[in-house]
Amino acid sequence: MGETIYPVPSAWPADALVNDASYHAMYRQSVEQPDAFWRDQAKCIDWMRPFTRVKETSFDESDFGIAWFSDGTLNLSANALDRHLAERGDAIAILWEPDDPADAHRAISYRELHADVCRFANLLKAQGVQRGERVTIYLPMVPEAAVAMLACTRIGAIHSIVFAGFSPDALAGRITDCDSRIVLTADEGLRGGKHVPLKANVDEALAHCPGVERVIMLRRTGADVSMVEGRDIDWHMAVAAQSDDCPAEEMNAEDPLFILYTSGSTGKPKGVLHTTGGYAVWAAVTHRYVFDYRPGQIYWCAADIGWVTGHSYVVYGPLMNGATTVMFEGVPNFPDPSRFWQIVDKFGVEIFYGAPTALRALMREGDDWVTKTSRKTLRLLGSVGEPINPEAWEWYHKVVGEGRCPIVDTWWQTETGGVMISPLPGATALKPGSATRPFFGVQPALVDNDGVVIEGAGDGCLVITDSWPGQMRTVWGDHARFFQTYFTTFKGRYFTGDGCRRDADGYYWITGRIDDVINVSGHRMGTAEIESALVAHPKVAEAAVVGMPHDIKGQGIYAFVTTNAEVEPDEALRKELVQWVRHEIGPIATPDVIQFAPSLPKTRSGKIMRRILRKIGENDVSNLGDTSTLADPAVVDHLLAHRPLLA
Ligand code: WT7
Repeated sequence: MGETIYPVPSAWPADALVNDASYHAMYRQSVEQPDAFWRDQAKCIDWMRPFTRVKETSFDESDFGIAWFSDGTLNLSANALDRHLAERGDAIAILWEPDDPADAHRAISYRELHADVCRFANLLKAQGVQRGERVTIYLPMVPEAAVAMLACTRIGAIHSIVFAGFSPDALAGRITDCDSRIVLTADEGLRGGKHVPLKANVDEALAHCPGVERVIMLRRTGADVSMVEGRDIDWHMAVAAQSDDCPAEEMNAEDPLFILYTSGSTGKPKGVLHTTGGYAVWAAVTHRYVFDYRPGQIYWCAADIGWVTGHSYVVYGPLMNGATTVMFEGVPNFPDPSRFWQIVDKFGVEIFYGAPTALRALMREGDDWVTKTSRKTLRLLGSVGEPINPEAWEWYHKVVGEGRCPIVDTWWQTETGGVMISPLPGATALKPGSATRPFFGVQPALVDNDGVVIEGAGDGCLVITDSWPGQMRTVWGDHARFFQTYFTTFKGRYFTGDGCRRDADGYYWITGRIDDVINVSGHRMGTAEIESALVAHPKVAEAAVVGMPHDIKGQGIYAFVTTNAEVEPDEALRKELVQWVRHEIGPIATPDVIQFAPSLPKTRSGKIMRRILRKIGENDVSNLGDTSTLADPAVVDHLLAHRPLLA
């Protein structure tokens, strides 16, 4: 197939944490003797009471359960902060770059961050926040977001971060699902020069959330916002009175740490629950090995804290490893498409971790925006969130990294807590577009639709056959849904929802979701959620949503909509529906195409034949497969004849 292989650069440091030989030895031990392996790796964490138990897990229905290090105790905030104070208290923990490059950046030392976190933790306690209570965080990319996370984990409260691009409705649903009494937000967010009305969104959401008693609001832009007497308080004013001494709670390894909502193929978004010990070990160990990270190196993960990547690789992983972590408030193309690389030069970034969608957008702007910057400090690049097409990979490697920086293409999920399949920079020869080999302790397998394991090279559904420490433990409030979603499609195995190919070298190539989940610009969305937003519109009778190929976003959103009988669909309604979905879910769910259809293809039992719609969305209509079970095959002809012209 003439595939290009990039060996580990000869200039890569000989003292790499892992090389090819040690990768194989460590991997073998990690799966053959998991207890011994993880007992050793877990030393990267300061335990308050050391664990004696390691892996206690089963994916089988009869004795289903997942626990790691279950008799150990620790505190994640203390691991991210306190443990560094003696040795590197004055080192920079967070380098914050504001949206507008003309504004001042902030450099926050471990000592300062520790004090800020303690003060905010004391404020939460003063508000009556208890261990195990859920705190909803709806904040932009500002250092206070990290402070809020670390303050929650310090006192044993469970944070639930809602991406600041989500709508009031989406926010309200998440607040209600986890029963938060307290919400943290800002007056406004600032992205690419645009103001995002966060406080107004919270006010709108809280009209549907009677359980919320307190809103703590950070002033970011100073916008004039309304404050509800008795409910809303000003972050800085309230925190000023607090002591900067707040002992970290001793948490059990299996105590809940955070909830993060993510979309699945059916129903409402699920509250993915991670627990303390296993997640801490997984975030720290993966960050260290995947990025070959040594304390003091300047590291930048360009993800938002509203997604799991921001949790594990902007905040927790890097801070546990004593990193200087860059936090960027803005967007890649503001004020111009050179911004990322200017920030790299400004801070001397050595490791950069970003999303293919941003790279594809920047690639289209031409090389000059990149090459006019120095980037000489870069030595490692990372990719996350969606498959990276070989063309974008080559550009990233050649233009951004000047051929000198390995690229770690990391496959993982909200559910997995951290990286699962990825190259290790000192160990793995790279193939553009492949996430390569499993991380320690990860046992991937490919199965066919009947669950039969595919050996050697082949294509199938990606499952993981045994537990790893960073695995999610349950769906908040619905343990049965957890088991049902992940462990019943293929009995006794964790089902990822992804399709995958394994080549003759044992390298994994993720081909994308095979369930009704689509990945738009690295943001995961359930087609069912968008459908239910559409049918909530008074003029819509029925809707079906599928993915479509999109040059920049990876996948776009293609919606088939049937209006109510008396409604004549037109351009105005199309625009209205686009706005409607943006308002119901958020701008990330903006439909790219809406095709009005008098009816949808259904089987005689009334089930929508999504397979056909997917093919239309993919513009792969030469062979639609078996349509003989359709109630009315003419419906398909109509859909094909009225496809909107796509650019
Ligand atoms: C889904 C998980 C990874 C954390 C951020 C997204 C897709 C993720 C890759 C990759 C190909 C990838 C998968 C996965 N995905 N990384 N390197 N190559 N696909 O987390 O929102 O839970 O989405 O993102 O389809 O299942 P998420």
